[in-house]
Amino acid sequence: MTRTEHSPATPEPGCTVLVTGAGGPAGVSIVRSLLAVPDVTVLASDMDAFASGLYLVPAGRRHLVRPGLAPDFVDHLLALCRDTGVDVLFPTVDVELVPVARRRDEFAAIGVAVASPSLDTLEHTLDKYLLAQRCAGPDLPVPRTELLGVAYDWEYPVIVKPRSGSGSRGVHLVEDEAALRALGTDASQIVQENLPGEEYSVDVLADLDGRVLAAVPRSRLRVDSGVSVAGRTIKDDELQRTATAVAARVGLTTVANVQLRRRADGTAALLEVNPRFPGAMPLTIAAGVDMPRLCLDMVLGRPLPASLPFRELANVRYLEDVFLDPAEILPDLAPSDVLDLA
Ligand SMILES: Nc1ncnc2c1ncn2[C@@H]1O[C@H](COP(=O)(O)OP(=O)(O)O)[C@@H](O)[C@H]1O
Ligand SMILES: [Mg+2]
Repeated sequence: MTRTEHSPATPEPGCTVLVTGAGGPAGVSIVRSLLAVPDVTVLASDMDAFASGLYLVPAGRRHLVRPGLAPDFVDHLLALCRDTGVDVLFPTVDVELVPVARRRDEFAAIGVAVASPSLDTLEHTLDKYLLAQRCAGPDLPVPRTELLGVAYDWEYPVIVKPRSGSGSRGVHLVEDEAALRALGTDASQIVQENLPGEEYSVDVLADLDGRVLAAVPRSRLRVDSGVSVAGRTIKDDELQRTATAVAARVGLTTVANVQLRRRADGTAALLEVNPRFPGAMPLTIAAGVDMPRLCLDMVLGRPLPASLPFRELANVRYLEDVFLDPAEILPDLAPSDVLDLA
């Protein structure tokens, strides 16, 4: 790729990447994957000085940034990328995705490729109503989805949940029409056909033209606070086909996590799409598809393997300590930086 106005702050050959949200499981997994690539300098950022992933990279490559919701978050991120000579940015925090994607051109202008889906893909996945509308049709199993207060001719029970939510917050089962009518009208909530069966997460990697290169289904065997702490990869043509078709329909480039859940008849239908690297990425990497590394090669225009097979593998997880000199803990940002929220 072309580097334009970088000051050569880091003398190492190869490329420099910045991983945001280094305290989250997705950030940690990307940092660890890319630290294993010989010619890559990994920088890590987070808004929290105690974010563990910061301390997986050498001192001098750890950066505290504004909260993703701060109005000048992207200005600061652009300045950080420019000052440290970043070639590729991996945003991993939900609230950062749209603000960063809106200004992708400004990142490109300073030689930074952003390894996250397009603004159009983000807008049609972060909103579960728009996602259902985009994917509905005879060729994709999409549960019926309406805005709350629009229709009552359902087979009950139904699911009611926020259009834009995460971590299962606000999801509930509504038993009958009277209970649904009692909820009134609210365009920020959706009503959805209940999918009573098994649930799967499929990690999908698509190239910059939207061609799906790999789809790795996982089942989450144990979830703790929304994070999968035990799981397994599954070879299943139907899950791979459906997730691939969903990714194509939303125009996915780079990486997303497509969640499917079985209907009573066993068909795997679309639950939602998280348009970012998932926290459970280490399992997909260990199963044979190192999506952070492949994604990096892809945005750098390097050749990718012709096929990306994976194997069936299970995992359990544990907490791990990073020990450091107390003096290494980054000083907090000035309070005005942190409180300066929109
Ligand atoms: N239509 C549905 N049928 C059955 N369960 C659902 C449905 N929608 C959501 N759920 C349950 O709620 C959880 C969270 O819903 P999801 O759509 O994944 O939103 P998010 O993870 O963003 O909160 C799912 O993992 C599933 O257990
Ligand atoms: Mg979900």
